[in-house]
Amino acid sequence: MTKRPIIIDTDPGIDDALAIAIALFAEELDVKLITTVAGNVCLEHVTNNMLKLLNFLGKDIPVAVGAGKPLIEELVDASNVHGATGMEGFDFPEPKTELLVDEHAVTAMRRVIMESDEPITLVPIAPLTNIALLLSMYPEVKQNIKEIVMMGGSAGRGNKGVMSEFNVATDPEAAKIVFDSGIPIVMAGLDVGWKALVYPEDSEKMLKMGKTGEMAYCLFKKYRGGSFNTGLKMYDSCAIAYLLCPEMYTMEEAFVDVELSGSMTRGCTVVDLKNYLHQTPNAKVCMDIDGEKFRAWFLEYVGKCI
Ligand code: BDR
Ligand code: CA
Repeated sequence: MTKRPIIIDTDPGIDDALAIAIALFAEELDVKLITTVAGNVCLEHVTNNMLKLLNFLGKDIPVAVGAGKPLIEELVDASNVHGATGMEGFDFPEPKTELLVDEHAVTAMRRVIMESDEPITLVPIAPLTNIALLLSMYPEVKQNIKEIVMMGGSAGRGNKGVMSEFNVATDPEAAKIVFDSGIPIVMAGLDVGWKALVYPEDSEKMLKMGKTGEMAYCLFKKYRGGSFNTGLKMYDSCAIAYLLCPEMYTMEEAFVDVELSGSMTRGCTVVDLKNYLHQTPNAKVCMDIDGEKFRAWFLEYVGKCI
């Protein structure tokens, strides 16, 4: 089987941790590089979490550290949801610092993309600061990027503002650069994440599946981004689910722009389903997800981890 080469850009983050574990053990994917960016918590914590997670999972994937703040604004993190250090609830081993590469995330991404025989898929599951910097500083990478499959934005309502989703609203200028880039984009947004739920009986099953399942159970008990009892929202796994099982989605092509100036709507992804703006579609937008298929897929793939 030819594995699809990907780079994950992340801010772990409890739901990030599960998405990354699934991607690392999926035989269909080849994770070439992981880059970190400030988001759920500060850069130091997310990088530390990433290195701890890799040690725990026994995977030697290079990690490059990226932007410590959004392009324009200061970081407003989500430690209220993920805990003060971002991945609380489980006793991880020490961070495996040997995996850190001696390059900034942006130059590391450029190198991996330009050296790859096959076009790379970028998978951002965090604010889009690193990706925007990459595309602005090294536009030549566009020729060897297959697509950007992101968790971010919303075709409905928001979680950071009334209409704005955390990853896009944390760095709206960066998100706009990405949507304007001309690279094919798949947007798995907040509104499908609200239907990608893991129920208590799923968590109980995971607890008996192995080390990763046990980690998931413990993190989920602490995760305030969803309720353990009524269904935990696996936002970032939605991007990985698109790569591995796109049939679970209902998609629409649309022009997507990012609101930068709205006094109440800054950071909103404006998904123009009816072409009011007379623009060519720049994204495939996940409009709906089969929640039962997602649950079965999630359990199956967590089962493939250690
Ligand atoms: C996104 O925000 C973060 O808190 C999650 O990790 C996810 O990437 C959901 O809005
Ligand atoms: Ca995330």
